Order: sequence, then C-alpha cells, then structure tokens
Amino acid sequence: MPDISYSDPRLAAVYDALNPAGADTAFYLDMAGSEPKFVLDMGCGTGALAVELARRGHKVTGADPAAGMMAVARGRAGADVVDWIESDAASLDVPTRFDLVFMTGHVFQVFLTDEAIAAALRNLRRHLKHNGRIVFETRNPAVRDWEGWTQADTASTVEVAGIGRVAVHYDMTAVDGQLVRYETRFDFGGGDKVVAPGVLRFVERDQLAAMLAQAGFTRVEWYGDWNLSPALPTSPELIVVAG
Ligand SMILES: C[S@@+](CC[C@H](N)C(=O)[O-])C[C@H]1O[C@@H](n2cnc3c(N)ncnc32)[C@H](O)[C@@H]1O
Repeated sequence: MPDISYSDPRLAAVYDALNPAGADTAFYLDMAGSEPKFVLDMGCGTGALAVELARRGHKVTGADPAAGMMAVARGRAGADVVDWIESDAASLDVPTRFDLVFMTGHVFQVFLTDEAIAAALRNLRRHLKHNGRIVFETRNPAVRDWEGWTQADTASTVEVAGIGRVAVHYDMTAVDGQLVRYETRFDFGGGDKVVAPGVLRFVERDQLAAMLAQAGFTRVEWYGDWNLSPALPTSPELIVVAG
C-alpha cells in the first residue's frame, strides 16, 4: 500500500516543516561539488534538494512515485529548471545517463524485499554514466532508532502555510524481523486527525554489500555519518557511495 504521508497532498504539504535541511543536505550538496553534473534525485519527495542542486548549476532530474510530494516539488520556487518525473526507482526509464544518483531521506528503506532492493539497484545502475556513482543512506539497524519512535520522543507542532498548526508524532507499532512498522499521527485540530501507516526495512551492512555486488557495483565506499566518519558498528547511518 502506498504511504499516504507522501501521496496525500495535505500530508505531503506538512513534510518540509517536519524535515528541515540538515547535515545530510550539506553532505549531498558537497558530493555533487561545483562542476556541473547530471544528477538524478530518486525519491526526491518535495524537491528541496533537487531545486538547490539545479540552482548550483547541475542538470537535475527529480523522480518520485508519490503524487502529493511531486505536487509540492513542482510548486517550489525554482522548480522549472528541474525535470520532474513521477516514477519509482525500479521502473524509471529515461534516456539520460547520470554522473550521480542520490536517494536521500532514507528512501532506500522503503524497499522491503531483497527483490525490491535488487530491482531498484539494477535499474538505477543502468542510469549511471560509466564512471557514475549512486549515493544513499540507510539507518544502521544496530542503533535501533525505532525504539525512539514514540509520542514522548517525537511529538512536535509545526505551522504550515495554507494549513495552519499541525501536531505530529510517530509511533512504532511492530518489529517483524528487519521490517519496522510505524504510524505517523497528524492532528490538524478540531478533531481532524489522520493516521498514516508506514513500514521501513533496516538492512544489515553485510547484506547490503552483497546486494550491491549482485547489482554490479564494484567500488563501494561506506561512511557512518554525514561528517564522512567511517561506518562503525555504532554509527547512526550506513552511507553508501558506489560505482
Ligand atoms: C522520507 S521521503 C524522502 C524524500 C526526500 N528524498 C528527502 O530527503 O526529503 C521518502 C520518499 O520516497 C518515496 N518513495 C516511496 N517509494 C519509492 C520507490 N519505490 N522508489 C523511489 N521513491 C520512493 C516517497 O514517495 C517519498 O517521497
């Protein structure tokens, strides 16, 4: 089932207020560098990074399967210089070959099965130039982030233009092997509440290394955090740069 946090226009409109630019944004902008490049932002969501990359002179394609997110992206100031495509990672089919393919904001964790991961990695690799690289991150399962997905730890209230005040929190509901089920709970006031169920996979580093090799990636660098520190057992992220 598609995640309504992304497909529903009103819920997608809340995304940017909940997810302001952070150290990950700086990492991806640095990865792109200052030389103009062809960049695919896969799972671009509301398009903030895609538009900023384009503003810096890169030739950017932003792709996402969720209509709600794409509507926000297309409406963003500066959006007209980005090529927007409504597509998921496995079925994207464009003639451009990219220097860089980015998947940011833990997009990778929406691929729930080995088959889904393989299909996405294979198809994204097909879209790379000969020396192109894919860059993405997945949360390190050893850190067990989901244990903090409670109302007490995640509750926030944001102000969203055209919508007003929205109270949001996350509730982890079940852990089923590597799959973590959770709900995003939106309260728009006056009894107007929406519950958006989601599920994410927390893949192990060794497994991911094998899947990258299987998909044809031969050069893989790993980082554990946005400051380029090495991936250690306790690092918050598994950040992959692969070609
Ligand atoms: C947490 S958001 C991240 C958005 C954006 N990259 C960011 O960093 O803010 C996850 C995004 O993945 C997208 N998504 C869901 N399934 C996908 C798939 N199969 N392929 C590519 N993107 C997908 C969602 O629509 C959503 O926009």
